[in-house]
Amino acid sequence: RSAAFERARSVMLENDRGSYTIPTKGLYPFQWNWDSCLTALGQRHFDEDRAFTEIETLLAHQWPDGMVPHIVFHVDDEGYFPGPGVWRTGRPTPTSGITQPPVLAFVLRRLVETCRETAKAEDRARAMLPKANAWHEWFYAMRDPKGEGLVAILHPWESGRDNSIDWDEALAGVPTEGVEPYVRRDTTHVDASHRPHRSDYDRYMWLVQRFRSLGWDNAQLHDASPFQVVDPGFNAILIRADEDLASLARRLGASEIAEVAEARVAKARKAFARLWSEKHGQFVCLNRVAGKLVDSASVGGLLPLLAGLGTAQQQGLLAKRIREWRARSRFGVASHDPADPRFEPKRYWRGPVWIIVNYLLIDGLRRCGLDDVAGEVVADSMALIEESGFAEYYDPTTGEGLGGGNFTWTAAIIAELLT
Ligand code: DGY
Repeated sequence: RSAAFERARSVMLENDRGSYTIPTKGLYPFQWNWDSCLTALGQRHFDEDRAFTEIETLLAHQWPDGMVPHIVFHVDDEGYFPGPGVWRTGRPTPTSGITQPPVLAFVLRRLVETCRETAKAEDRARAMLPKANAWHEWFYAMRDPKGEGLVAILHPWESGRDNSIDWDEALAGVPTEGVEPYVRRDTTHVDASHRPHRSDYDRYMWLVQRFRSLGWDNAQLHDASPFQVVDPGFNAILIRADEDLASLARRLGASEIAEVAEARVAKARKAFARLWSEKHGQFVCLNRVAGKLVDSASVGGLLPLLAGLGTAQQQGLLAKRIREWRARSRFGVASHDPADPRFEPKRYWRGPVWIIVNYLLIDGLRRCGLDDVAGEVVADSMALIEESGFAEYYDPTTGEGLGGGNFTWTAAIIAELLT
């Protein structure tokens, strides 16, 4: 195995807490949902058993209604805000009260299909199928109450792309009155100019307080939220995860689960066309409260490649966007169109490159037969690691590593791309 692989492995081991892995020391000291699942992809290259454990630990904290929370607070740590005392979700092991992009079934299928100890992997995966299915069902029940076939996120943190320009318009409709005084911790760990603005945080906290005041009852939260955004990236991940769940369920003889997952996919595929923007030549978000598309060209609108969404012509246009953005920066793929005046190359999700997003794009491009562009994104990802190590994210114009260092999911994805 190469030196780069060994470095990636040591980052994963350094952040391993036994049954779950923290994203990075200091900034993120607990288990995060999609971080953990994507981490399993890397772990499987040196410890298959451990990779399954990572996902099982997360699922052990699933809510009775089916939601898999975005953070599990396994330990106390004053270095993070907002901690369990703010969320107050009443779970036996404290968790946050919102969710995150459901990459779990996508990862699980890959684990099963590529592992060495197949029978063991199949047994462990079989036990997780009903849980993954309950989570996917929860999405369409709770986040698509009118049965449109597309789910909304109710908090920017749910998207995983926290302070994307995609949310600016919808966040403007979130008040800040009554936000309890708070002290951020993120900016004590990393440069404040690489993190979300205070005005965003105030709104993040307002939403948390609002949902908490409703007892985290998901049957009420959607309609009570002033922030309801249909993100093409998030929905594409869910559709892909349902396809993978269906495939895995067929393989493991769980045909009922396969059928319901396939039905969800068919309905969502039909609804998806609504998110196409002629103006941008890509998919964009829908602000469900305002009932209109959001004028923001982010990488979330390129992720539908992952589920082979759109026509072949539209997929070609998405690949063209990737090439255009790469031509405007030194490294791809920026999290936002660099030509947009709102683009900020160092501020978290308003411009920086994220290796995990590159990976999802690479997979999607290959699926759509766009291998040349996929190869370019692989090359950029490797160049970033060589230049700046396993950072949380990177400035696409300079390649500088930003945010947390020795970052688990960056290392996991590089291990995956190297093997
Ligand atoms: C944070 O605290 O920045 C996280 O992204 C929220 O999940």
